[in-house]
Amino acid sequence: MKAFRCYKADLEKLLEMLTKLMMIPYYRPYYDYRELLAALTPVPARQKFTAAMARHARVRYGLDFTYGRAGLFAILHALKITDAEIILPAYTCMVVAHTIEASGNHPVFVDIDLANYNMALEGLKHAMTKRTRVVVATHLYGYPVDVAAIREIVGGDVFIVEDCALGVQMLAKEGRGIQGDFGIFSFGAAKPLSVYEGGIVVTDSADLYEAVKAYRDVFMTKSSPKSSAKRWGRFLSSYMLRKCTYQFIYRLKYGGHTSTKSALPPDHLPYDANAILPEFQSRIGLIQLQKLEVILQKRRALAQTYDNELHDCIRVFPAPLVDSATYSHYTIRVPHRDQIGFIQRMVQCGVAVDSAYKYALPYLAPYRSPIQGDFPRAAQAAREVINLPCYPHLDLSDVHYIIACVAKCAKP
Ligand SMILES: Cc1ncc(COP(=O)(O)O)c(C=O)c1O
Repeated sequence: MKAFRCYKADLEKLLEMLTKLMMIPYYRPYYDYRELLAALTPVPARQKFTAAMARHARVRYGLDFTYGRAGLFAILHALKITDAEIILPAYTCMVVAHTIEASGNHPVFVDIDLANYNMALEGLKHAMTKRTRVVVATHLYGYPVDVAAIREIVGGDVFIVEDCALGVQMLAKEGRGIQGDFGIFSFGAAKPLSVYEGGIVVTDSADLYEAVKAYRDVFMTKSSPKSSAKRWGRFLSSYMLRKCTYQFIYRLKYGGHTSTKSALPPDHLPYDANAILPEFQSRIGLIQLQKLEVILQKRRALAQTYDNELHDCIRVFPAPLVDSATYSHYTIRVPHRDQIGFIQRMVQCGVAVDSAYKYALPYLAPYRSPIQGDFPRAAQAAREVINLPCYPHLDLSDVHYIIACVAKCAKP
């Protein structure tokens, strides 16, 4: 009996040690053997994938790029938009502002609405000037922004580019698909539909399509073996994103610290932004597109569970549930996030959480300017937002564990 007790204690210790080695990844693309098989099967798929994405967006034309931002760059150049003002939300990915800057234009920021993290439309009216040529209508975290209302504000002469990087579902009422002049999709590693890096521009206008295609087919045609090799490497390594390996990957990636996306120079574009999207990634995209309904259903179910259980959690403010949102991230706000070391505490509990954008763009050094005004809500989001893991591989027990950790770690 005594020997059995000792054995049981050892086993419990071992289990505890093993549990400590586990870590719930922050993101994980919804891949299985089908993506791998498709990637390895050498058949052309670029045209098929772009056409399928255009159909998905309920428009006629699509063009593929190595990144979503490369698509935005091509649009601005193709339409000969330079030295113009381009409006975007104050709280979004910095690479969007950097791309505008790199294209020789000027980003103009609009504060957000904390109810859905999207551009506050009353701010848009004030930001418009005679120099405004484009508005980037971002569906942040997959929350639909009201594109029809934006069109009413900006009129017919300003281009609307819908940033669907995180909102891959079609957002318009009555199933009309993309309502802007362009839609831009991004398929990065943490995006709901992932080819591990890539982008597609869609439009319903034959003229706009021809213009962007002409630009792309001249300036973005490099085949880059280095880029392809890196992309293969990243894609294959994504199969390692598991609870039993993520502790190791996390330490390797962040050196034991939480993510600090280094501030890129304001005109930065990746070295392979002018390359062609490798065929193998388009093949992955086609498989992901077949799974999209399931991916979104699972994300929405996870968001519902988070919402049910975090609603009464003091010191945590969950973002609202919206029917058509994608929950590219499930987002909460934790006041005093950094003062209480919330991210580090969660990591110690074995849950990798992060904040996709720890900055409000107008306060970043390259964009700071007194004439841009104040952006209190974007600043608050930058200070308080936490994105919880929300991807189809998570099971209910993971989510309940994450919720328990949030409740514990949000305490001062
Ligand atoms: C909201 C948003 N828009 C655009 C992009 C740019 O996408 P890509 O990395 O494919 O250029 C990102 C990237 O994460 C993003 O989060």
